[in-house]
Amino acid sequence: MKELKISAKIQVCDYNELNPAEKNLIDAAKEAVMRAYAPYSRFQVGAAALLANNEIVTGNNQENVAYPSGLCAERTTLFYANSRFPDTAVDTLAVAAYTNGDFTEEPVSPCGSCRQVILEAQNRYNHPVRMMLYGKKGVYIIEKITDLLPLSFGSF
Ligand code: THU
Repeated sequence: MKELKISAKIQVCDYNELNPAEKNLIDAAKEAVMRAYAPYSRFQVGAAALLANNEIVTGNNQENVAYPSGLCAERTTLFYANSRFPDTAVDTLAVAAYTNGDFTEEPVSPCGSCRQVILEAQNRYNHPVRMMLYGKKGVYIIEKITDLLPLSFGSF
């Protein structure tokens, strides 16, 4: 019998260690948080996608009284980015979350459905999607979405 081990590299750094462009993208995700529509969970999430053409597209979670009809910040942002710039790769996706009057201490990590959609963006443009997950205690940097979604379902 053979054993396969799966590992992922996540860099953890302080916001102040980021370069100006990285800080700018995190700031855009934090601003997008404030435009979220999350009256049911009261958990507001914002995302900012830096595209290969240097555009920054932001989005946030959009909830609905019929709960499953809502959508997470990551998918709202990526679908919007892809609908505006269908030929442009997504370079980095920053995410921040806010609840009980403050940003979360720990970074929020995308749900399984969002990981699958981020993977589609990575495969579609054959360009790694770098993730920056903001928390007050530190920022997680993940170089490609496949680190968060190993053994993913791909095309055949
Ligand atoms: N949510 C996101 O938008 N992104 C995540 O990464 C985690 C969860 C949203 C979904 C729902 O509107 C609220 O946060 C609570 O789960």
